[in-house]
This record gives sequence, C-alpha cells and structure tokens, in this order.
Amino acid sequence: KKIAFLASGRGSNFQAVIDRVNDGTINAEIVALITDKPDAYAIKRAGENNIPVFAIDFKSFGSRDDYNAELLRVMKEINADLYVLAGYMRLLDPDTAACFSGRMINIHPALLPSFKGLNAQKQAIEYGVRISGCTVHFVDEGMDSGAIILQHSVPVLDNDDEMALADRILKEEHAALPEAVKLFCEDKISISKRRVIIKE
Ligand code: GRF
Repeated sequence: KKIAFLASGRGSNFQAVIDRVNDGTINAEIVALITDKPDAYAIKRAGENNIPVFAIDFKSFGSRDDYNAELLRVMKEINADLYVLAGYMRLLDPDTAACFSGRMINIHPALLPSFKGLNAQKQAIEYGVRISGCTVHFVDEGMDSGAIILQHSVPVLDNDDEMALADRILKEEHAALPEAVKLFCEDKISISKRRVIIKE
C-alpha cells in the first residue's frame, strides 16, 4: 500500500512508522510527507528516508479556502491508499475529510471521546483523570470524532505534570500508530456504522 503523511512539527510518530516500514514490519511504501510548516522537523526525517516532501505553507496563501484547495489538489495527486495525520495541527475542511473517508487516520494523545482538540494532555491533568492514553481513529468532518481503531492506555501518576504525561503517552503513540497502519495495510480493518472491526 502507498501511505502519505501529514505533519506540522516534530514528526516522531511519522518516524515510528518509517522505522516499522524500514524493518519490514509494515509492508508499505511511504510516498509523501505533506506539511503546512516549511520548517517542520518532520521534513528532515523525510529527507533522510528519501520520502518526497510537499510543503504547502499556510502563511503563503491569501485565504483558508485557497490553502484548502491546494492541499486537496496535492493529496489527490499523490493518490495514496492511506493518509496519516501525525501531528497535523489543522482541522481539515469537510470536503477534504469526505474525499478520503475510510482511508485517512489520525493519532490523538487522549482516550477519545475525552479531551478532544489541542493540549489533550493538559486537559487530562487538569480534569484529574487517573488513566489517559492515545487513540488512533478514522478522520471524519468533525474534530477528533471519527471511528476509533485502537486505544492504548497509560496511568496518570500523582506527580505528573503535562510534560511527564505527554512523554508517557507519546511512547504508546509510537506503538499504536504503526500497529494501526499495519492493520490497515493488511486489509484487516473494516467499519460498520462507527464501529471498527479488526480481523484476527
Ligand atoms: C502527538 O502527541 C500526536 O498525538 C498529536 O501531536 C503530537 C505530534 O507529535 N496529534 P509528533 O510530531 O509525531 O512527534
């Protein structure tokens, strides 16, 4: 299968999947990194792995509609089987979400449907939950609202601050995202209404 990534920053989840492709765990080709930030560290990771980069600098567009149109054009042109949002910090517009329905996934650093949106780890600390984690889910028109594929949990410890919790969750993200990508690439995922069914 052909996989494209969208990332805005550090790209450690992108790297986690690159590593599993390189070691043969995931049978796929990463065909593109799309980023809205021309200085994203993820670009360096793509370069080291000969992955083509499509930098669509949000700031260089006159309007959100123009940016969205260019993003959609590039995504269609790449023609991947799976699009992975890994720290892509913008809400996709509804047309784009609809266009790739069932073949676009996102990783979120909380156990959805709790703590959607930005600063999920901070939200979890402030709420005082004892368990948090990460969720890999399909992308739909909403924010962090699509069908859930996998969740990994971690404890929230008494002395945790946002950073400590984020670090613990991130380790699970680096396991959960490649696991979900592998399942998708092996055609083991199907959706019934909003429930995901994973074949053994
Ligand atoms: C991760 O915590 C991910 O869950 C969230 O953004 C962060 C991206 O980290 N959506 P990285 O860029 O993959 O290192």
